Amino acid sequence: MQIGNHILRNNLFVAPMAGVTDRPFRQLCKRLGAGMAVSEMVASNSLLWGSEKTRRRANHEGEVDPISVQIAGADPQMMGDAARFNVDHGAQIIDINMGCPAKKVCNTHAGSALLRDEVLVGRILESVVQAVSVPVTLKFRTGWDKESRNALTITRIAEQSGIRLLSLHGRTRACGYSGHAEYDTIREVKRATQLPVVANGDICSPQEAQHVLQYTGADGVMIGRAAQGRPWIFREIAHFLDTGEELPPPLVTEIHQVLVEHLHSLYAFYGRDTGVRIARKHISWYTKGLANSASFRHMMNRLESCEQQLAAVDAFFLQVGQQALRLQYVSEEVSGETSIAQAPVQAALDQAALDQAALDQSIAA
Ligand SMILES: Cc1cc2nc3c(=O)[nH]c(=O)nc-3n(C[C@H](O)[C@H](O)[C@H](O)COP(=O)(O)O)c2cc1C
Repeated sequence: MQIGNHILRNNLFVAPMAGVTDRPFRQLCKRLGAGMAVSEMVASNSLLWGSEKTRRRANHEGEVDPISVQIAGADPQMMGDAARFNVDHGAQIIDINMGCPAKKVCNTHAGSALLRDEVLVGRILESVVQAVSVPVTLKFRTGWDKESRNALTITRIAEQSGIRLLSLHGRTRACGYSGHAEYDTIREVKRATQLPVVANGDICSPQEAQHVLQYTGADGVMIGRAAQGRPWIFREIAHFLDTGEELPPPLVTEIHQVLVEHLHSLYAFYGRDTGVRIARKHISWYTKGLANSASFRHMMNRLESCEQQLAAVDAFFLQVGQQALRLQYVSEEVSGETSIAQAPVQAALDQAALDQAALDQSIAA
C-alpha cells in the first residue's frame, strides 16, 4: 500500500485513539506488525498549540515513518493552519478527523458532526489539501445517522478535493459505538472510488480482518480497541493474511517483556508521575482476561510509583508463566477468581511499597 511517496510495510493501520495512541503505543504497534499508525488528534485551535498536551502529541522523535498526524476542527482556515503547523513539526501525512462522535469534538461542529454540512466538508478538505504539500487523508463515519448515510457523497467530495486515502468506520455518528459496525457502506464506497479505502470497526481477530477485506474489497484494515493491550494483534493478522495460518499465542515471557518496555517508554515520555497513571489503563488491558487478573488490577491501580508498578507486573507475569508457557485468556468471571495463588503478588506489592518508602526516606534525607 502507498500513500503519496510513502510505501507502507503492509495494509494494517492502528486507529487513532485519543489518550491511547501516543508515541510509545504507536512505536510498539509498528514494531509488532502495524504498517501505519495515525497519531492522536491535534486540535486546530492554535491557542492550544502551546499546551503541554499538544506539544507531546506533536512529538515524533524516533517514530518509524511515515508519520501521520490527525487534526480536527470545523474552520477551513484554522484547519489549514493546523495542517501546516504539524507538517512543520514533522508530520509526513495529515489525517482529517470526521469520524469522532465525542461530545467535546461534535459540540464545536468538528468530528463526525461535520458530515451534516457537506459544503463545509468540501471547504475544509480543500483548505487543508492546499495548505500542505504532504498527502492528506480523511477518516469518517458512514453518515450522521442511519437516515442520512452520505458516505458516497463525502467520498466524491474527498476525491474532488485531492484527498489521497479514506478510512471509513462502519457506523453513523448516531450509532456511537453501539451495535456492530456494518461493512456494506464500506463496500459501496470502495466500489465507487479509485482512492485507497481502509475499513474500520469491530475488527478483533485475523479471521475478521480477512473477512472484512474480502467482503468490502478494501485496501486495508484499521484496528482500534482490539489493539489495546494487544499490540501484537498486527503481526497475528499479517501472518494469517500471508499464510492462512494462525500464529500460536505469544509466549508469556515475551509479553511480559513487551509490557515492561512499554511501561519504561511511558515513564520516559510522560515523566514518572503521569507515566504511572497513564500506564494503569495499559496494564489493565494487557492483563484483562488472564487468570486472576481482576484482583491484580484492583491492587495495581493503587500503586503510585514506577518501581511498585514494575514489581507488581513482574510478580503477576511470573505467576502467569508458571501456569502456562503461552498466554491463555479465560472468561472474565474466571479471571476474577483466585485461580492463581494471590500471596506472591501481594508479597511483591508489599515489598515494592517498602522499597519505595525506603527510597523516599533516603531522598528526603
Ligand atoms: C478511546 C478512543 C479514542 C478515540 N479517539 C479517536 C480520535 O482521536 N480520532 C478518531 O478519528 N477516532 C477516534 N476513535 C475512533 C477509532 O479511531 C475507531 O474509529 C473506532 O474505535 C472503531 O474502531 P475499533 O472497533 O477497531 O475500535 C477513538 C476510539 C476510542 C475507543
